[in-house]
Amino acid sequence: SDSQLVDPFGRRITYLRLSVTDRCDFRCTYCMSEDMVFAPREEILSLEELYAVADAFISLGVKRIRVTGGEPLVRKGLPTLLARLGAREELEDLAITTNGSQLHALASTLREAGVKRLNISLDSLKRERFAELTRRDRLERVLVGIEAARAAGFKRIKLNSVILKGRNDDEIIDLVTFAIDRGLDISFIEEMPLGSVSSHERHVTFCSSDEVRQRIETRYPLVRSSHATGGPSRYWQVAGTQTQVGFISPHSNNFCGSCNRVRVTAEGKLVLCLGHEGALDLKSLMRAHPGDAERLRNALVDALQLKPEKHHFNTDDQVQVVRFMSMTGG
Ligand code: GTP
Ligand code: 5AD
Ligand code: SF4
Repeated sequence: SDSQLVDPFGRRITYLRLSVTDRCDFRCTYCMSEDMVFAPREEILSLEELYAVADAFISLGVKRIRVTGGEPLVRKGLPTLLARLGAREELEDLAITTNGSQLHALASTLREAGVKRLNISLDSLKRERFAELTRRDRLERVLVGIEAARAAGFKRIKLNSVILKGRNDDEIIDLVTFAIDRGLDISFIEEMPLGSVSSHERHVTFCSSDEVRQRIETRYPLVRSSHATGGPSRYWQVAGTQTQVGFISPHSNNFCGSCNRVRVTAEGKLVLCLGHEGALDLKSLMRAHPGDAERLRNALVDALQLKPEKHHFNTDDQVQVVRFMSMTGG
């Protein structure tokens, strides 16, 4: 790749995760508390600033952008930003990660804007369970949204399920069946220690990817697959189907060695590693020097020298990163 963003460990950054809002219409228990306080609006990057950040990364060789939140689809004006990004020929991929609550209305707009891949969170297929986990009674609406997304013709749709022991681990096979029946991919995610959540003790509900995979294999044969997005997921294919099953295992699998990504938070902080607090304030830089694209690019190249080698997540219930997941969008 021709990325000019190289860290001291020789890793080339070709992938940006761009959070467009920290706000969300859900309150997933593993992500935030019910009374979560969001950033004041003036602290959030404007659509112009978001585009300037994306533009700087693209001109430095980033080929893939994933738009995240909070819930990205609650951000007003997002389709316009997506259309501007979708028109950039340098980008091989434009993707979005959503909780699905707005897809019934927005799926085809996203597709027309040039979004190729869509990840949709879905932790339960039971109405009451879904309402407990997300603190919102929205399962039916999300299911309608998934159908709207299928109809809109995305290149790939992937479900994301965070599995918590005693909460939704009895639905692992049902979720895989749901994905197979609809020709979708699905990733199972181990909970990560981001932000302080009081709803459950993370060491009690921890469910390892190995355990999830063994449970799936009691029903469906899995074949190790070469499918790769350059991300942390390791994929298996369900034999005889289109469905790729991914496992994101920050605790039991270390993928940091080939990390290709950085993140920008909704407040314009460049986060070099999900598992570290260190961040560079791009917003202050852009507001002090509006329109100075070269300064922004130089700051990104310099910042890469500080990218940590790896994260050190564990399951001992200590908050390891104070920042909430909704700030970084994963
Ligand atoms: P692609 O790599 O673009 O296919 O997407 P993804 O599956 O990584 O992205 P998505 O936004 O759907 O995130 C799924 C889960 O992966 C979330 O819980 C993210 O926090 C997590 N994740 C994404 N990137 C990283 C990473 O670099 N490190 C860790 N530990 N987790 C990550
Ligand atoms: N650990 C792991 N995954 C999380 N997500 C949100 N918070 C956490 C956490 N603490 C997931 C969401 C969504 C994806 C973007 O991140 O469920 O699917
Ligand atoms: Fe919202 Fe996603 Fe956090 Fe759930 S996990 S509260 S959908 S940002």
